[in-house]
Amino acid sequence: MSPPQPLARITGTGRYLPDRVLTNADLERMVDTSDAWIRERTGIHERRIADDETDATVMGARAAEAALEKAGVRARELDAIIVTTATPDRFLPITSCEIQAAIGASRRCFAFDLQAACTGFLYALTMAEGQIAAGRAEKILIVSTEKMSTIVDWDDRATCILFGDGAGAVVVEPSANGEGILSSHHRSDGDLAELIRRQAGGARLPLTPERLRDREHMVQMAGPAVFKSAVRAMSRASLRVVRAAGWSAGEIDILVPHQANARIIESTARYARVPMERVFVNLHRYGNISSATIPVGLDEAVEDGRIRPGTNLLMTAFGAGLTWGAVAMRW
Ligand code: ACO
Repeated sequence: MSPPQPLARITGTGRYLPDRVLTNADLERMVDTSDAWIRERTGIHERRIADDETDATVMGARAAEAALEKAGVRARELDAIIVTTATPDRFLPITSCEIQAAIGASRRCFAFDLQAACTGFLYALTMAEGQIAAGRAEKILIVSTEKMSTIVDWDDRATCILFGDGAGAVVVEPSANGEGILSSHHRSDGDLAELIRRQAGGARLPLTPERLRDREHMVQMAGPAVFKSAVRAMSRASLRVVRAAGWSAGEIDILVPHQANARIIESTARYARVPMERVFVNLHRYGNISSATIPVGLDEAVEDGRIRPGTNLLMTAFGAGLTWGAVAMRW
């Protein structure tokens, strides 16, 4: 099979992680848990927590500025901004418009938020590719920014140990010499909507003092059921995009998966036939930063030389919805 011709590529990456570190030892003082349990069951050692002034817009704008600088693109040249977040700063206006203003992008660019929970970044990448393929945009900024600490129930040991704050960003432009997105595969399953949810605070269950007291506006998750669905969804999506890219498993240079749980990453890699030495993992340092995990990982992998021109990169993610997907790309 001849390899597909890529249309869009990533030309710059950036990240922002807050300075404050919350360790497993800190969590031992907050809920009935232990460093050993968290490390063994999740692989997480610590996570970053943003202060009150550092919201999704602030983190996203910092990551965006770093990505723009590396791409050599000025904010006012952007045609579109896509922001993925499960923690918008406000319900209205949308966070993407706040970031548009914060980085000084021009009014000739259009900005929108895309909500697909942890899969948001991969969905956004495919939306950006579509805009470029249609000839409607040439310089697109994707920003994934998450302040998960504001929606986590800090009394619920089953969820509060998992998440952290941070932002990642990339610039997407038309591909030049055969680099870029080779194949994508995305799916969702609304029958599994109740597995990860925030019950109150939306149109169906507006906030009331009782719902706030009962913390119905915080993340609730059926962890073991999510675990099983995640492994199945990510490994199948990965195999599919690898095949569509015309690669054999041995041709995958690096897998950058969504960072939710080390055991999920290991199982997915095994099913997708990628040895662990070719899997990027930073989960131990940041926990699950929802849609920001992959762009943060890309920026770190580029910085440390694991991703270079010509690298065959596989990305896969899953999240609330449930949503999931995979993208194969030649860097
Ligand atoms: N410390 C100590 N014990 C704990 C903790 C904790 N922090 N949390 C749960 N336990 C206990 C449970 O109460 C249970 O005790 P019991 O046997 O006495 O009832 C026991 O540990 C086992 O609990 P499980 O939930 O079965 O543990 P599991 O091995 O499945 O690990 C985990 C839980 C880490 C949440 C895992 O299921 C997981 O990672 N699931 C996927 C979560 C995920 O990736 N979510 C992504 C969300 S993405 C998004 O879109 C926001």
